[in-house]
Amino acid sequence: MPGTADVKMFWILLSLLTTASAEWDVVVSENDSLDFLYSDGRNVSVIQGSHRDGVNSLAYDPIYENLYFSDTSDVHVTHIKIMEVTREAVVSPAYSVVSINSSNLYFRDLAHDPVNSSLFWTTTDIPYTAGQIWQATLDKPITFSPLLRLEGQTPQGIVVDSCRGYVYWANMNQTSPSIDRLRLKDLAHEGFITNHIFAPSDLALSQNQKKLYWIDENPSSKNSIIARAGLDGGEVEEFLEFKDGHEPKSLSVTQEGLYFTEVSNYVYVVYFSDPLKTLHKLNHTVINPQGIAVRNQLAFLNQNKESCPQLAELRDRVPPRRNITVCLFGKISPPVNGIECTCWPGYTGRHCEIDLCHNFCLNGERCFLTDGQPTCDCAPDKTGSRCELESCVGTCLNGGTPRCNKTSSSQPICVCPKGFYGPSCETSSVLCELYCRYGENTMVSNVFQCPCSPNDALLVPGRFSTHVTFGLLSAIALVIVLAVLLFIQTRRLRSRPKIFKRYSVTPKPVTSPSCEIAIENCCNMNICDTPCYEPDLRTLETDRKKSKKEEKRGLLSEDVLAQNSCRSVPDF
Ligand SMILES: *[C@@H]1O[C@H](CO)[C@@H](O)[C@H](O)[C@H]1NC(C)=O
Ligand SMILES: *[C@@H]1O[C@H](CO)[C@@H](O)[C@H](O)[C@H]1NC(C)=O
Ligand SMILES: *[C@@H]1O[C@H](CO)[C@@H](O)[C@H](O)[C@H]1NC(C)=O
Ligand SMILES: *[C@@H]1O[C@H](CO)[C@@H](O)[C@H](O)[C@H]1NC(C)=O
Ligand SMILES: *[C@@H]1O[C@H](CO)[C@@H](O)[C@H](O)[C@H]1NC(C)=O
Ligand SMILES: *[C@@H]1O[C@H](CO)[C@@H](O)[C@H](O)[C@H]1NC(C)=O
Ligand SMILES: *[C@@H]1O[C@H](CO)[C@@H](O)[C@H](O)[C@H]1NC(C)=O
Ligand SMILES: *[C@@H]1O[C@H](CO)[C@@H](O)[C@H](O)[C@H]1NC(C)=O
Repeated sequence: MPGTADVKMFWILLSLLTTASAEWDVVVSENDSLDFLYSDGRNVSVIQGSHRDGVNSLAYDPIYENLYFSDTSDVHVTHIKIMEVTREAVVSPAYSVVSINSSNLYFRDLAHDPVNSSLFWTTTDIPYTAGQIWQATLDKPITFSPLLRLEGQTPQGIVVDSCRGYVYWANMNQTSPSIDRLRLKDLAHEGFITNHIFAPSDLALSQNQKKLYWIDENPSSKNSIIARAGLDGGEVEEFLEFKDGHEPKSLSVTQEGLYFTEVSNYVYVVYFSDPLKTLHKLNHTVINPQGIAVRNQLAFLNQNKESCPQLAELRDRVPPRRNITVCLFGKISPPVNGIECTCWPGYTGRHCEIDLCHNFCLNGERCFLTDGQPTCDCAPDKTGSRCELESCVGTCLNGGTPRCNKTSSSQPICVCPKGFYGPSCETSSVLCELYCRYGENTMVSNVFQCPCSPNDALLVPGRFSTHVTFGLLSAIALVIVLAVLLFIQTRRLRSRPKIFKRYSVTPKPVTSPSCEIAIENCCNMNICDTPCYEPDLRTLETDRKKSKKEEKRGLLSEDVLAQNSCRSVPDF
């Protein structure tokens, strides 16, 4: 799936395109790079990138100018990626079009058919039980599946004859090696070369010569050879034998010559015009060469259009691509309102560069297409068409229906079973009954209402509990206030000053035992500052009948004071 960065890079590449005249001829895949070369081996450009680690087989589509390659850098998933390549070897970002679970199979080789927009590839099982031929369709929603199961075969190189509608593959089974083919019209499988063949690996097809080339081994000398045969299965012959230990790895054919990579890190070409079949080493080193593909595969149409009407028709219909990535995820078609791209389902935009699934599902959920529309596979806690909503698992209590809708800002909406109310069905009808009986009709909350009808009046349990709480709090507050008042009062009473005075009295032994009056008694008379006398100075029982005024006067009279000189001594 294209990321924003990829699409950005695509536009940068688009703008970078200048009218350079140089056109690449051969592309070779290394361990983690693609080398675009002139036919003499000078490099046009070398594309390196971490996302191309494990570049293996190559297949070039000369009509739409796309390069397909397999990426086996992840042992569990093999990707087949597409990359659009201008003739100047300016490339688009690479996108995966097919991802294969390769935990139990080896990816072998890749081929492309522009006529039906198909990819074909070979695999073998791990552990070995059989081989398979797979097919992917590219111009409809991309689908792929095994086309053929090959018991007892070890399929390796694969190539498509788009002109005649055949797929050829090399079966490297040591006891019964062969080159087989499948007629695409009716999927009829037949042996193509079954004799004089020993260990066929890679294949190449020359439409110009109507010949199939393959890498094989001479059984007697054990030398590698390149052999060829007519497309009718006749004229089987050895084309080249490598007497000096050369070991060709993959093969490609142009009108001029046969190109092959070799395990010794070089690319060679043998020109068909050279009767001596001299090997020309291209001036370019390829570390760990993998696949090889050539660009100009349609030159044969210039001489003989009738030999392949399907490809001729396609070439005439599809405008030559001078610009990179006219249709990134789609097909070039006659312009409609100036737009030349018919996008694959799931893509849109003038250049089909917009992936409908890109950033469609929120929260990182998986996106897939349903009838061409993006659809999300949401985690259990997410819902909504884009997984944008919190699903309400666990938010509805008491058996409330989990049909609820919670955006990050909103509250969940639960559909409660009978007898339960509230946003999360947390309130039982018992509480509502209480509320409806005692609550206030006038205070209607906008959050949630107890269904208080004639049977139960319309009221709010939220308010109900508020009232209860409020009443309780008021009562507590009142008690506290009262307690505080009481406390203050007692403190005030206690802090009122108390007078303690002691009087030392000069004893007047004979005449005055009177000063022995207790000061408390004295003070109780509120006349503490004055000396006191014991009533023995006063008249006895009978005098009690005197008025208090008289008594007081008597107490304070001068002579009494002179007689009883009690001095007051404040004691504080
Ligand atoms: C392929 O490249 C990776 C890193 O780019 C490197 O670790 C690995 O050794 C290379 N393999 C070969 C066979 O060159
Ligand atoms: C192309 O090859 C030349 C030498 O053959 C080398 O110096 C140069 O770095 C190569 N360019 C790239 C992009 O690898
Ligand atoms: C790949 O296939 C294996 C075996 O069939 C299976 O165990 C594994 O889960 C699959 N992996 C993925 C990512 O589908
Ligand atoms: C090779 O072919 C023979 C005969 O068809 C078959 O018995 C054998 O199992 C095959 N071996 C492999 C590795 O495919
Ligand atoms: C394309 O598909 C048609 C219909 O399935 C089939 O008859 C034809 O052979 C195919 N041709 C190629 C080159 O794939
Ligand atoms: C190969 O390339 C190098 C550097 O680009 C150059 O010096 C040399 O002459 C070239 N060799 C041939 C045979 O073209
Ligand atoms: C490439 O495309 C741009 C618009 O996308 C157009 O203006 C330009 O002329 C094209 N260049 C060529 C060489 O077709
Ligand atoms: C969820 O609620 C929002 C408003 O809160 C509404 O716009 C949306 O349509 C609802 N979605 C569903 C699936 O009920």
